[in-house]
Amino acid sequence: MYVHVLGSGAGGGFPQWNCNCVNCKGVREGTIKTTPRTQSSIAISANGTDWILFNASPDIKKQMDDFPALQPARQVRDTAITAIVITDAQIDHVTGMLTLREHNKPWDVYTTQAVYEDLTTGFPIFNIYDHFRGINHHEIATDESTFTIPTAEGLVFTPVPLKSEAPPYSPHRHNTVPGDNIGMLIEDTRSGKSLFYAPGLGEAEPHVLEYMRNSDCVLVDGTVWTDDEMSHEGISDKRAQEMGHLDQSSDGGIMDILKSMEKPRKFLIHINNTNPILNEDSPQRKILDAAGIEVSYDGMELEL
Ligand code: MLT
Ligand code: MN
Ligand code: ZN
Repeated sequence: MYVHVLGSGAGGGFPQWNCNCVNCKGVREGTIKTTPRTQSSIAISANGTDWILFNASPDIKKQMDDFPALQPARQVRDTAITAIVITDAQIDHVTGMLTLREHNKPWDVYTTQAVYEDLTTGFPIFNIYDHFRGINHHEIATDESTFTIPTAEGLVFTPVPLKSEAPPYSPHRHNTVPGDNIGMLIEDTRSGKSLFYAPGLGEAEPHVLEYMRNSDCVLVDGTVWTDDEMSHEGISDKRAQEMGHLDQSSDGGIMDILKSMEKPRKFLIHINNTNPILNEDSPQRKILDAAGIEVSYDGMELEL
């Protein structure tokens, strides 16, 4: 399978429009070693022609401009995106659906029931689609049963419910239900290789660790280095845990978890603009390097 990182940043992207934190200022002024990042999304393809979009970010227009494979121009109105999988109903993962409204047929969209509820109530993007070509909704189960997508022949998808947080406009905010957030194991039955993708991970439960440990590659929550990172520069007193993200540096944090795993190649994704690892010269980035953990970037490609 082919994996293309469309957006490696968290909500807000990097730099964020209203942010003057050390990183955002540094990338804007070109004074730190780093690269800008758009908001969280990847695309997966079994054949290199048809692509499954995982999450639809508000930056999708730029992401598609930067990845011409998604715009093959076979007919007057065309796209190579054949289906959309949404892993949670957060703004950074769904707002791109509004940009995709001009599609000339209903989008095949895969979400859990919990995400479907949010996107037809608190943030009713799917209702708005009733005024365009609509969507064909495919429900993703929360019992770890596998499914396939017709335009991704050879790939098998296993959704894995995760402990994280539901969006502020969700009826499940602070009271989550299975399906508010999922990770996805994607196995290629031809190559025998697998990817575990989880951009929002609040807690790594044993079943999640098992999926990660057995994968060839993990692409997981890289939001923050420390749980109270947002308060360091007076940005917000919200802890990452409250937003459903496990930090990298604490005991039992993402780095600890990944370090113990031998098989997978390990990448962080959904990196918040406050995270010091965005600065390639930072001591935190060096610690991550030494732990064998890589930081994904926009445009990064993998073949598995
Ligand atoms: C999150 O990942 O916690 C959200 O996307 C935050 C946001 O709304 O930007
Ligand atoms: Mn997010
Ligand atoms: Zn910032």
